[in-house]
Amino acid sequence: MLTLNFTKFPVLETERLILREHSFSDAETLYAMRTDERVMKYIDRERPADLLTIKTIITKFNEGFENGNNLAWIIVLKENPEQMIGTVGFWQTDYANHRAEIGYMLHPDFWRKGIITEALKKAIDFGFETMNLHTIKANINTGNEASRQILIKHGFVKEALFKQDYYFKGKFLDSEIYGLINPNH
Ligand SMILES: CC(C)(COP(=O)(O)OP(=O)(O)OC[C@H]1O[C@@H](n2cnc3c(N)ncnc32)[C@H](O)[C@@H]1OP(=O)(O)O)[C@@H](O)C(=O)NCCC(=O)NCCS
Repeated sequence: MLTLNFTKFPVLETERLILREHSFSDAETLYAMRTDERVMKYIDRERPADLLTIKTIITKFNEGFENGNNLAWIIVLKENPEQMIGTVGFWQTDYANHRAEIGYMLHPDFWRKGIITEALKKAIDFGFETMNLHTIKANINTGNEASRQILIKHGFVKEALFKQDYYFKGKFLDSEIYGLINPNH
């Protein structure tokens, strides 16, 4: 059975990080990140127009947790737990096939310190051991070398390249799909 109906949001902890649920107090940093072209360069999604849009997204994530559609964590450093620095989470839960898509982003001030490596490992372990996912999928823009390397580092294997299957801002873009199979199944 795939488990996403937790009674309480699962807060996770790693050596340096706490992964917790989204809160309106994260809205400004989330807005700054989702309008920062360094962060969004390979994320082919509309940039939020304003803080209200971000608050709507936060509400959607929290509702998504309640109805089992997604499980999205805010990443904070233990040494500064009020300040979000990134996100990691599962989206598009596919119950029939025990599959979900993983996504992540980090504020550029914290890049290249192994933070997403640490957060992703925890999220993947949780996905396989507690949620009982059978496979985890990731979808990257073909130019996103950083994301590709992280996925490979965590054992993901390239499964597909969909040619021009995604329309964004006047262009048809390719999608590179990676997958990881639950090693305990
Ligand atoms: C991708 C991203 C999350 C990486 O986070 P990070 O915490 O800096 O990554 P880590 O420090 O854990 O790096 C792990 C490995 O990924 C690879 N990597 C990370 N950044 C890289 C870069 N800019 N170029 C090439 N490889 C990179 C390296 O192999 C690295 O290992 P190493 O430092 O031992 O060489 C971050 O760059 C980011 O937020 N990018 C913008 C958002 C985004 O594209 N998200 C993914 C959408 S699919």
